[in-house]
Amino acid sequence: MSLIAANWKMHKTPKETEEYIKRFLEIYQPGEDREVLLCPPFTSLSVAHELLAGSDIKLGAQNCHYEKEGAFTGEISLKFLKELGCSYVIVGHSERRHLFGESDEMINRKLVACLEEGLRPILCVGETLEEREAGITFKVIENQIRLALSGIEEYTDNIDIAYEPVWAIGTGVPATPQDAVAVHRFIRDLLKTVNPEGEIGFRILYGGSVKPDNAQNFTKHREINGFLVGGASLKPESFVEIVNAF
Ligand code: PGA
Repeated sequence: MSLIAANWKMHKTPKETEEYIKRFLEIYQPGEDREVLLCPPFTSLSVAHELLAGSDIKLGAQNCHYEKEGAFTGEISLKFLKELGCSYVIVGHSERRHLFGESDEMINRKLVACLEEGLRPILCVGETLEEREAGITFKVIENQIRLALSGIEEYTDNIDIAYEPVWAIGTGVPATPQDAVAVHRFIRDLLKTVNPEGEIGFRILYGGSVKPDNAQNFTKHREINGFLVGGASLKPESFVEIVNAF
């Protein structure tokens, strides 16, 4: 089953969320073999949870803390997210890594916490332009995945991976489908090596400047099991078009 996820980032107040979801529900058609996920800001989760009740659309968060509770000013734990109806969490997004100094070790702890609490993490990985130009893309991805899964290698079926080249995020320049497919194959083989007993229950999503007019170039390839969409998910009409590409 493919997964098409909207990452709204720091966009949309609760009121704007309400307007979006009402419109989205008018134009969205559930599909047999796909799952649709909205990841609004924390402050919109409550209203989104109420409005999505009765639909098959899943709710997720863009980040979490790995402790259950405690003296962690400004942080949100998985326990809170669960109560707000979240079943997914985006972990290790490149903006968290690069703008907020999130380390591989923190990302690993967040994944462990997600598995413990029963929320499904979407682990984001991706190389910078410099790394791609230096020819070390696969090495970077392998390193990110191995560190993120350290000690939890046997749980590859309980997570999804989003391949998001940093240079493609928010730039309007997506990876070519061929480049994405090559990295997706590499990730799939790596996860099989990491967990030989796994049943390929994970999905590998592509993210980075996915738009209605380029989505179908990716969905043609069976290696691409879904999308993580930023900018183009902010309008219900364009996100629906991307969903329908699957
Ligand atoms: P974008 O963002 O679609 O705006 O490039 C993708 C993401 O950061 O998840």
